[in-house]
Amino acid sequence: MKRILSGIKPTGSLNIGTYLGSLKNFVKLQDKMPDYEFFIFIADLHAITIYKDKQELRDKTKELAALYVACGLNPERVNLFIQSEIPAHSQMAYLLQCNSYVGELERMIQYKEKSKKQETGITVGLFTYPTLMASDILLYDAEFVPVGKDQKQHLELARDIAVRANNRYNNIFTIPNPLIAEVGAKINSLTDPTSKMDKSDDNDKSRINLLDSENIIRKRIKSAVTDSLGTVKYDPEKRPGVSNLMTIYNVITNTSFTDIEEKYDGMGYKEFKEDLGEIVFQELKPIQERYYKLVNSKELDDILDKGRERANQVASKKVFKFNDRIGLGRKRK
Ligand code: TYM
Repeated sequence: MKRILSGIKPTGSLNIGTYLGSLKNFVKLQDKMPDYEFFIFIADLHAITIYKDKQELRDKTKELAALYVACGLNPERVNLFIQSEIPAHSQMAYLLQCNSYVGELERMIQYKEKSKKQETGITVGLFTYPTLMASDILLYDAEFVPVGKDQKQHLELARDIAVRANNRYNNIFTIPNPLIAEVGAKINSLTDPTSKMDKSDDNDKSRINLLDSENIIRKRIKSAVTDSLGTVKYDPEKRPGVSNLMTIYNVITNTSFTDIEEKYDGMGYKEFKEDLGEIVFQELKPIQERYYKLVNSKELDDILDKGRERANQVASKKVFKFNDRIGLGRKRK
């Protein structure tokens, strides 16, 4: 069976950027692509490239697992697992590091941006992060990888590494393709609409978290940066603030930009923002209800156990095969 794989890091606060850019898309795809086996995971090994407090890491891992299911991922359909519980990810990462070049990793935009922000030293893990991400993907021979725009370059690197390894080791890997949604692939910050809404942004006002209260949700939309023109028109270049809010509206309700423009023609931002606050709240309310039921349940543990078992089966076999192709250890009989 062909496969689809993706993951999210359990860092910071899961917000509507990650939700609309990736999670909501996974939920759609699980129904739209019945011929594919799905592997969706919590990328906790990626989270420790920058030091994390132990309890916080555990809490965020569980939170993300519960949110996956609360947002609509069907555990019968999707293998849901925690990356660090599958040893093959770290093993494969080393093997792929030996098939990647320092120059390639130095060109990664996220590395450049994150290392600029780091004051206390940059870990080797932050530098080799894209090779771990390539391992996640290549271990499962994923044909498609649904991600937001900011992960496109990492996906391209995973493809380059796969092609190189295929040339050296007799076509061992499936070449992965990114699946990037047409809209929603980049939801921007509410306070600086020219940069992406980010889990790790120090400014809480820049985002809406999936577990925010009704009051906060409405407040964040109300205070979102727009411009002084006061008309609801989609123009991401010249009017990034209102266009970003329209994107959120569009992805949640499926209303086209032209229909949104017509609906709010002649009105100011007030009505538009009030409606959007309601739309976001209504979208998140059932997710929050399911989340609180699930987060400390045995059901969630059972789902993760089942996912771990299947992921281990596939991944350990693949890493074993790659070891053999490289010539590591004794020849298999
Ligand atoms: P992460 O945890 O930063 O983000 C998870 C997913 O959400 C998307 N995303 C967004 N999309 C639209 N607008 C935004 N503001 C926004 N913020 C985040 C990201 O593009 C991503 O798809 N390295 C990855 C996790 C990962 C992974 C993988 C993904 C690890 N291994 C293998 C795919 C395949 C990351 O840090 O994503």
